[in-house]
Amino acid sequence: MERIDSSSHVPRRATVLLAKSSITGAADREMEALVGRLQSAGDVGHATYAFSEQGSPALRDVMMGLAEAGFDEVFILPCLLPMEPGFRVWIDRALFRWRTERPQLSWPSVRIGEPPARLAGIDALLQDMAASVGSDPVSTPASARHTVGSLVPAQRYRVLVCHGGPCNNAGAALVWGRLRSDQKRLKLRTTGEGVMSAKTSCLGPCNLAPVVQVFPDGTYYGGVDESGINQIVEEHLLKGCVVAALAYAPSDVRQLLRARDEP
Ligand code: FES
Repeated sequence: MERIDSSSHVPRRATVLLAKSSITGAADREMEALVGRLQSAGDVGHATYAFSEQGSPALRDVMMGLAEAGFDEVFILPCLLPMEPGFRVWIDRALFRWRTERPQLSWPSVRIGEPPARLAGIDALLQDMAASVGSDPVSTPASARHTVGSLVPAQRYRVLVCHGGPCNNAGAALVWGRLRSDQKRLKLRTTGEGVMSAKTSCLGPCNLAPVVQVFPDGTYYGGVDESGINQIVEEHLLKGCVVAALAYAPSDVRQLLRARDEP
């Protein structure tokens, strides 16, 4: 991926290929190859890629970097198939939040391209895909045979850390990282009553991002940052007490994210 050089000439425009998730190096290399193809296809300025959910670099970090480097125009190309209905809403809100976080930066104007399914070229792409089908039928790999058993762990609590778009953009990865290191540090998986954790897709109340939910009681926590997840570990998981300052009870009324020092 081309490095941003803020010390010399800075191109005015950057183009960001936006994919949803990646957890493997192979997927990152695929994105890098696509960026290379994009660069050779025409005048796109500085080209790069980002992920809207899981994966690095996150769109938030890329946008911060482009703002810091002085780009004044960013085109985001969403490689999303199918397109998510709420995509425009969350990206507008995320950009607003990032600008608010770093108001001292001169933020670029952002424009968003059409998703693949709305472009005329999708017909040729689908035809190419259909023509690419090989002659060998899929066989059952040895890895699919069940020859190794699994332990079913004891657990009192299950902590879900939302990694939907809004939560990811509000810092879910930091919350997840802190929870996992606390689990390891305190040996929560194997001592006491047992705590397991999992990343999830959207848990519902996106405007309270980042959202964490603790079972078996199902307590929703909103606006969770790294110190917040520490509190949840210390109070809820270790002592069984809900952290009221971060908790949101189910309600028919829309709830706004509270400032941390509000009751
Ligand atoms: S994306 Fe996290 S609650 Fe919707």
